[in-house]
Amino acid sequence: MNRPAMPDPTPIVRLTTAFWDSQALLTASRLKLFDQLAGDPKSPEQVAAALGLDARMTDLLMRVLVALGLLEVRDGGFVNSASANAFLVSSSPAYMGGAMRYSDQLYGTWGRLEDALRSGQPALSAEAYLGDDAERTRTFVYAMHGRAMGIARVLVEVLDLRGRKSMLDVGGGPGTYSILLTQRHPGLHSDVLELPGVAAVAREIVAAAGAGDRVSLRDGDYHGSEFGTGYDVVLMSGMFHRETAASCRRLIEKARACLVPGGLLIVSDVFADEGRCSPPFAALFGLNMALTAPDGTVHADADVAGWLRDAGFSDVGVRPLPPPMPHRVVTGHLS
Ligand SMILES: C[S@@+](CC[C@H](N)C(=O)[O-])C[C@H]1O[C@@H](n2cnc3c(N)ncnc32)[C@H](O)[C@@H]1O
Repeated sequence: MNRPAMPDPTPIVRLTTAFWDSQALLTASRLKLFDQLAGDPKSPEQVAAALGLDARMTDLLMRVLVALGLLEVRDGGFVNSASANAFLVSSSPAYMGGAMRYSDQLYGTWGRLEDALRSGQPALSAEAYLGDDAERTRTFVYAMHGRAMGIARVLVEVLDLRGRKSMLDVGGGPGTYSILLTQRHPGLHSDVLELPGVAAVAREIVAAAGAGDRVSLRDGDYHGSEFGTGYDVVLMSGMFHRETAASCRRLIEKARACLVPGGLLIVSDVFADEGRCSPPFAALFGLNMALTAPDGTVHADADVAGWLRDAGFSDVGVRPLPPPMPHRVVTGHLS
């Protein structure tokens, strides 16, 4: 009798140690190890001495980074690979270290997944990084800014805001999107509605970008505060993943009420396919948000598009941002 063939266990074996790879990369990045290897080849002893690390452990880590394609062995020493030089050296224009700090900080939070599953509560208090703890809030807002710089640069290319004059950026965080969109469309002014602790840090970022005359920060709570009137664009980026479906629908209603006829609503986030089991990153992102925000989740783009239609928006469309961005943009127009 033929037994059914055993499935291949390789994917499961791989998953059991997937966090080893992440932690090697995140730790090397946090220590600025890649800055050391952007020029002439160096030995692990030289790198360890420069960074104040143990030479034997550093040697092992650097061999791991070679195995992961982030370093190369050359002339008896170690140097960065081309991708490490492009994305992991802090002086590079495409440096990803700021964005990676967000994942780095979440490592301990994911270690408490079982507690969160038992309690139904996030493993990390959202209040701490949204104003209550000034230092954590600062780190969070700057990490958001680092991450948003990459995504917003792409979004600016995808959105057509020609002729638009006034935008409300709801939960606009560091103001990154407002800074880049108003830079691209000189007639556009943006109001960023944010929690006071986050807005305080965002003011610094907007001022440092020289955008103070076209981006204003408004302290508020997007649930309780009035949105105002007369906007021709509302941007809701990266906030639906903190909200239940009912809350998202209420926010879409508020957006509709503050828009002029012909106004445009843009909702950008990590969205899943129908059924919310794919793509894998989106499903994982939903769990990540549940670990870090009380109503954290991932929504399906088709559901969000339906909520816009139900609220009276027409010409509703969904577009993915190009890889490696996991984001999708849902837009709708008011007639
Ligand atoms: C993931 S961030 C997205 C920031 C920015 N829109 C972006 O895409 O980079 C979510 C933002 O929503 C803000 N937020 C959360 N709850 C809020 C509320 N009740 N009122 C206003 N802002 C809120 C947070 O402070 C945070 O900056």
